[in-house]
Order: sequence, then structure tokens, then C-alpha cells
Amino acid sequence: VKPNVYITRKIPEPALARLREACDISMWEEEDIPVPREILEREITKADGLFCLLTETIDEALLEKAEKLRVISQMAVGYNNIDVHAASRRGIVVTHTPGVLTETTADLTFALLLATARRLVEAEHFLRRGEWKTWSPMLLTGRDVFGATLGIIGLGRIGEAVARRAKGFDMKVLYYNRNRKPEAEKSLGVIYTDLDSLLQESDFVCVLTPYTPQTRDLIGERELALMKDTAVLINTARGGIVNEAALYSALKNGRIWAAGLDVFEQEPVSPDHPLLSLPNVVALPHIGSASVQTRIKMAMMAANHLLQALRGQVPDYVVHPDAIKK
Ligand code: GLV
Ligand code: GLV
Repeated sequence: VKPNVYITRKIPEPALARLREACDISMWEEEDIPVPREILEREITKADGLFCLLTETIDEALLEKAEKLRVISQMAVGYNNIDVHAASRRGIVVTHTPGVLTETTADLTFALLLATARRLVEAEHFLRRGEWKTWSPMLLTGRDVFGATLGIIGLGRIGEAVARRAKGFDMKVLYYNRNRKPEAEKSLGVIYTDLDSLLQESDFVCVLTPYTPQTRDLIGERELALMKDTAVLINTARGGIVNEAALYSALKNGRIWAAGLDVFEQEPVSPDHPLLSLPNVVALPHIGSASVQTRIKMAMMAANHLLQALRGQVPDYVVHPDAIKK
């Protein structure tokens, strides 16, 4: 008999076709609405494999109902929505999709950095509203990116890819990371600093660390106060790493200059969120890896992980190797 797989959203056709060959599929068919919790709770009882997104909370309570489940395949690199330890205790393998989205997410991070520095969104709205009366010396002036100092918090795959882009803009690149990375220092010319020095010296700060209990509120009131009043903060990692109340206050009071955010503590962020009332915020709906090519690659990779695990193989990217029961 074919294993049962539950897919929590409509996924790209090639990935679906691959799973159909080997599995009995049930899928939440909507594209724009996440699967309701009660449906997920019902489906999980029958599933040998789960294909999920970062929008699903895979917690202990859900896993208690997952009597047959052998693998959770997440179509994302981050997996803070999954209780990996609870899965491990049950011998359930958890996989994610690193690597394939690195360059796409670095592109978006740099696009957001440029857009925030040069006030692109504000300028476009200004033009469309018919407010463009004349060229003027200080009209819509931003901050220079070329030659500035960039601080990268979390020098993983995406952090390194952002550093490579920054080199093309002749930026001085500082980084803070749990472990020092001598290889990257040599090949990319990035400079290791402690977090406080990075915040004090950078013109642009990019948050690119995973979201864990250790990085929750990593950037709060004290850290924002260390930054230059001309500095720009970019977060394309996870919302909870930067404390939003502290960020709002720092932006509102001119303690930092602007912020570009692709992620929020609560997603989707409410259009009434205080941060969205500020002109010096550029906000995006979590689209870091959203290119056609990359999203198809992520879906294929997640499908392959699921099939590998269901065949009894060790999938290519297991988040927590201890999860594999002997
Ligand atoms: C997106 O945020 C991801 O983690 O892949
Ligand atoms: C601006 O367009 C300039 O020519 O300086």
C-alpha cells in the first residue's frame, strides 16, 4: 500500500506530481488561506508524511494525534514553527530546504536594503499621488549604500550571499555570529565583531540569524540605542528577533533612520500595525525566497525529502539528526 501524505497548501504541480507517483495524497487546496487547525488535526491522524509550510504550527498537541507520522517535510529553510524536540521524541524526522533559496533571499535582502536607503516606495507613492512638482536639491534624499558599512547578524548561507553582494557596492562588511568563520573572513573579507560594536559602527544592519529562544528579541531597546541615528535596519529573517515595540519607538523618535522588514512577529501583519504608520518603514509580506524558480525548487526538494524518509532513507536535509530512530 502507498503511504498517506498530507500537504497543507496547494503546491507547485511538478512537486505534487512527484508525490502522487508514490503516495496517496490529501491536500488543502487553497492557495491564500492556511489549513484550519481542526482539519490539520484530523488529517494528521492518518498521515505517514506531512508536507508543510512555515504558516503551520506543528506543536506537541498536534504531534500527539500523529500516530503514524514518520516525516515532517517543511518547505522553508526556517523551522521555528515546528517543535523539533517533540518530533524527535516520537522518532519523526524533520526536514527543511536550505541552499536552494540562498541567492534569491540575498537578492531580496539587498533589494530591501536599497529600497529603504533610497526611499523607493515613498518616492513612488509621491509620484503616483501627483506630488512631483519639480526636481529639488534635497527632495526624497536617502542614504548612500556604496562605500557604507554593513553589519550582518548571522553569517550563514544567506548572510554570506549578502556579503558577496555588498562587496560589489564597495561596502565594509562586519559580521556577528555564534561561531567565528575564518574561511568567510578570508574569502569575503568580512570582519568579525561583537554585537555591540557591530551595532555602533554599521550604517546598515541586516538580521539574518535563525529564530530560536536565544535570538528572540536579540534586537531590543538597548541594541537599537547603540545604532547610529542615520542607520538602517533590515530584517529578512524572522519577526521575533527584533522587538517591534522597541523598533517602533526608535524609528518614531529618530534614534535610527529607517527599517526594511520582510517579516513580522505576527504574520500576516495587520495593516493597522503601528510600524506601518511610519514613512521610514518599507514593509513586505515575507517574500524573501519568492521567485518562481526558487519556489519550485523548494517544493521539489521538500517532496524529495518526504519520499526519501518514507522509503526509509535518511533525507538530504534533516534539521535534527537525532530524530532518526535506529
Ligand atoms: C522563509 O522564511 C524560509 O524560512 O524559508
Ligand atoms: C541628476 O539627474 C543630475 O543630472 O545631476
